[in-house]
Amino acid sequence: MRGSEHHRPDTDRSADARVAVPRLSQDDSHWSFYASDHELAKSKRKLDQFLLPLLERLDAHRVLEVGCGSAAFPIWLRDLGYEAFGVDPALRPVITDQYSYLASTDGGHLPHEDRLFDLVYSLEVIEHVGARFRARELASDVRQQRAEFVAELCRVSARYVFIATPNRLFPADEHAQDRRGRHGFRLHSPFEGFTVSASDLEALFAPNGFKLASFESAEGYYALERVRRVFGRPGEMVSRTLLNMSSVPWLAKSPLSPHLFVLFERDQ
Ligand SMILES: C[S@@+](CC[C@H](N)C(=O)[O-])C[C@H]1O[C@@H](n2cnc3c(N)ncnc32)[C@H](O)[C@@H]1O
Repeated sequence: MRGSEHHRPDTDRSADARVAVPRLSQDDSHWSFYASDHELAKSKRKLDQFLLPLLERLDAHRVLEVGCGSAAFPIWLRDLGYEAFGVDPALRPVITDQYSYLASTDGGHLPHEDRLFDLVYSLEVIEHVGARFRARELASDVRQQRAEFVAELCRVSARYVFIATPNRLFPADEHAQDRRGRHGFRLHSPFEGFTVSASDLEALFAPNGFKLASFESAEGYYALERVRRVFGRPGEMVSRTLLNMSSVPWLAKSPLSPHLFVLFERDQ
């Protein structure tokens, strides 16, 4: 089933689906907060305002999310008729046993066959591959781990791979925690190894026969509640302006753009 008329978000059905998202992450996982009602409500908004419009535009029906966190997107997308799959190393095996389309694995070892998906997408994940932000540790083979991660995403995609990640060239990202464990902002050098730039991504994708297709808009992606908490309404306005630059190629490649939303397309 292809064609956008089948995939329009149906708010009533999506709201029902939200209730159906179980606690999928291991309880001791650093990421288990993604399964809270608050985070799920934010994810629901992101689904309607960011992800569904992207899938419609790309006419993508069979899709894989790598690093799917709470797995809310694959579950909701299934409910809307998509052939959606998700993998995340923090998913509880007891749950993945019940959901044949979810797998507890990392992006470097995907259990799917070559060129199975119209679109493979990975949101806020690549910067964690080979990295432990809180311990400020990078694996000695971080480059190789990221190369293998990207190679796997490309291997299983027939058409597109989409990546959202903080821009290394912008001097701040969202990987700090305050004393109460709340997420906040971290200043970083443009030469550090945790985050990546658009050029880093292009260099990772090129050997796999994928070329940069577009820089996408951040519209609908962010609730910006951390920005509001730390910098107030003026900060939110500045952030929205900066984020709107994400779709202008020369700005997206510059230190002015805080976040990358990059679509790669199979070239060969
Ligand atoms: C910041 S969270 C993002 C979760 C979700 N994509 C979102 O945007 O809400 C990072 C996620 O990446 C997962 N992750 C970390 N390393 C990974 C890897 N090598 N392959 C796939 N997922 C990974 C974590 O378990 C976690 O769920």
